[in-house]
Amino acid sequence: MNDELLNATAESAELDMMMLIIKSFLEHLEYTLGKDKYSATRHDLFNALAYAVRDRMVERWLDTQQAYYNDDPKRVYYLSMEFLMGRTLENSLVNLGLLDNFREAMNSLGYDLDDIMNQEQDAGLGNGGLGRLAACFLDSMATMGIPAYGYGIRYEYGIFRQNIVDGAQVEIPDNWLRYRNPWEMDRQEHLHVIKFNGRVVERKDGEANSIFDWIDTDDVMAMAYDTPIPGYGTNTVNTMRLWTAKSTREFDLTFFNEGNYIRAVEKKMMTENISKVLYPADHVPEGKELRFKQEYFLASATLHDVIYRFRKMHDDLRLLPDKVAIQLNDTHPALAIPEMMRLLLDHFRLDWQTAWDITTRTFAYTNHTILPEALEKWPIWFFEQILPRHLQLIYEINDRFLAEVRSRFPGDIGKLERMSLIEEHWERKVRMANLAIVGSHSVNGVAALHTEILKESVFRDFYEMYPERFNNKTNGITQRRWLKGANPGQAALIGKAIGEGWVTDLYQLQQLRPLIDDPAFVAEWREVKRQNKQRLAEYIRKHNCIEVNIDSMFDCQVKRIHEYKRQLLNILHVITLYNRIKENPAVDQVPRTIIFSGKAAPAYYLAKLIVRLINAVGETVNGDPAVGDRLKVVFLANYGVSLAEKIFPAADLSEQISTAGTEASGTGNMKFALNGALTIGTLDGANIEIMEEVGRENIFIFGMNAGEVEELRRKGYVPRDYYNRNAELKKGLNMIAEGTFSPTNRELFRPIVDTLLNQGDYYMLLADYASYIACQEEVSALYLNQDEWARRAILNCAGIGKFSSDRTIADYAREIWGVERMEIHPVLEYRQSAAAE
Ligand code: IMP
Repeated sequence: MNDELLNATAESAELDMMMLIIKSFLEHLEYTLGKDKYSATRHDLFNALAYAVRDRMVERWLDTQQAYYNDDPKRVYYLSMEFLMGRTLENSLVNLGLLDNFREAMNSLGYDLDDIMNQEQDAGLGNGGLGRLAACFLDSMATMGIPAYGYGIRYEYGIFRQNIVDGAQVEIPDNWLRYRNPWEMDRQEHLHVIKFNGRVVERKDGEANSIFDWIDTDDVMAMAYDTPIPGYGTNTVNTMRLWTAKSTREFDLTFFNEGNYIRAVEKKMMTENISKVLYPADHVPEGKELRFKQEYFLASATLHDVIYRFRKMHDDLRLLPDKVAIQLNDTHPALAIPEMMRLLLDHFRLDWQTAWDITTRTFAYTNHTILPEALEKWPIWFFEQILPRHLQLIYEINDRFLAEVRSRFPGDIGKLERMSLIEEHWERKVRMANLAIVGSHSVNGVAALHTEILKESVFRDFYEMYPERFNNKTNGITQRRWLKGANPGQAALIGKAIGEGWVTDLYQLQQLRPLIDDPAFVAEWREVKRQNKQRLAEYIRKHNCIEVNIDSMFDCQVKRIHEYKRQLLNILHVITLYNRIKENPAVDQVPRTIIFSGKAAPAYYLAKLIVRLINAVGETVNGDPAVGDRLKVVFLANYGVSLAEKIFPAADLSEQISTAGTEASGTGNMKFALNGALTIGTLDGANIEIMEEVGRENIFIFGMNAGEVEELRRKGYVPRDYYNRNAELKKGLNMIAEGTFSPTNRELFRPIVDTLLNQGDYYMLLADYASYIACQEEVSALYLNQDEWARRAILNCAGIGKFSSDRTIADYAREIWGVERMEIHPVLEYRQSAAAE
């Protein structure tokens, strides 16, 4: 065919697609939603469009699922209590390669695609990094053609909405399903009975073997909802399956027959409460019975599904580890380990050794935290009441395991005590991390430093016993959402310079390196950033009623509010800058807009007080005419995936300032660098690896490293010494303590200063303060040279290739799961040809 003919064919295909989109959209508006142009609300427009997009995925989805049955590859099950998906519409269009087609189709109907996309509620079924990681992994697994499923809970209420009222966080329920969720499909037929409570009785079979029956249980049904997960530029569409709790028919019959109708409805609601709400705690212990039930609900429903699917193709359960890899996203789903044992022993009647071999070869565990208080431990009495059979199994696992420890390390009582699955303090508890390590063939940390700390301290005993199990998988992010979707300006500029290969191979960004010597490219880069800042400035004006100077440095710290992440250190820097202006009103200071965003766990008193302090400092600074536009403090309420997508592209400076040795990895750090921000950070989590990739000279590092933190702690850290030695620090802390920022309630913020000065400053803010301030001065000095700043930003972006979740997933696939990529060929061509006829 000649070029003209090719072009004409392509144009006609585009036209066909546009007509198909318009038809599908209008049909959904009319037939699915029963609306016309007079009655359609903006939500209706969004839903009709979402259904039209979903239609484009369904054929590939079915093809993919059938191919998994026909080829029978090894499948990955990613179990996670959290999936922080954010919005789906734009990402689906990006991945399907249909963004422009839909934009045009909507234009032709007189609608603006961006307006419609803005109607979508975030699916906020997660707290922070762990949940967003699960979402990025789903995108990468589909894009790379890995036969995979995400399994989680369909919470009716996701992470709370955060309002700021008089400077304080107020939590509002996130009723995200109110306007329906067009992406999911309910699977009424995929139901499993999940048992709770009851008792265990032992009986003997014909050969005098013990059989354990778990009886008199209170049962709840788990019902599946499936969401398609399309890969980018492939035919693969994987499944995320979320479980919802339903009462059983038997339950309904028993209770409704008692005659007290209202009481029966109440009880029915109680059983369905299991999937009602996400626990909004991140790195904070949550010892609630309902949470424990949620964890078992996910574990049990998923294992039933896994085994059912496996048995459709195979009879011999000993083949399970060859066909199934189960990854536990933290210990939250670790009850799947004793649940697997229960099913194999009690249901399928395998012997212990065979069952244990299958279990340990199937499971792998990812650890996400080294904060001791965040390691899950469940009271024995929860098990006694709710999961009595699992407690027996955990005791048996523990007995056999401790016998092994005894024989490997004779006489080492301390080791036995530390490694036991049971903590024998005043309240006996099951240590979920120990259970997860013992029951898995792989234990991974999420950044190099984090994995080293696991091996050397937190899980040292386990590392000595099972060194081969431990490995590192540094976290990553999907560039489809965090650059191509969130930052179309920068993505287009990169595309123009180096093509589109980076969308599925992020290492290709290295090709940007030489462009730092191309003044035209640098100028365009700066212009894109400026436009992104302009957009965020408008958002800030609209939501915070603050005018910000877009020539000021956008200095951003966006993440959960937690003491170890040290938003307080950032605020001390703000106060220091403020005091310098006040002391010398003519001081020549690089203007900064310091942007905070993040939620505090509702029960985390100090984190909520920090939110108030940030807002109070903002109130003082922003309202002081002496400051002008040299300094502004902005707290953006309700941080979540969609807000993050607005902030990252507009950032100049990324604050990654956790105490060294506390942040497992972080992924915000990667999103910022990808979007052309420079990092100021400690040698913590993945910051270290980012430094290695982008070059020490292109990142601002300050403070103690993890070893120095530990050593100072050992030697005896006296925060007051730092306070007494540093006048600016002393002044800042005194202002907080004495009520400068809370004139109507002078004692309000004193507890914050108390934790630093009188309660040991566990996260060592004071020790790192001077180094942080000095480093911020270097940051400001560089910002004066805008071209040099842009060149370093380009080098950050160019060096970030390693941090694609595609790389992370490739590592998991090869080193932990043993799964292969699989190309999906459309097997339903007949449908298309039928449609054409
Ligand atoms: P599930 O694995 O039972 O959840 O089924 C998911 C999808 O896989 C179905 O909707 C079918 O598209 C496909 N599928 C299920 N069973 C088979 C089979 O036996 N052969 C081919 N495809 C199947």
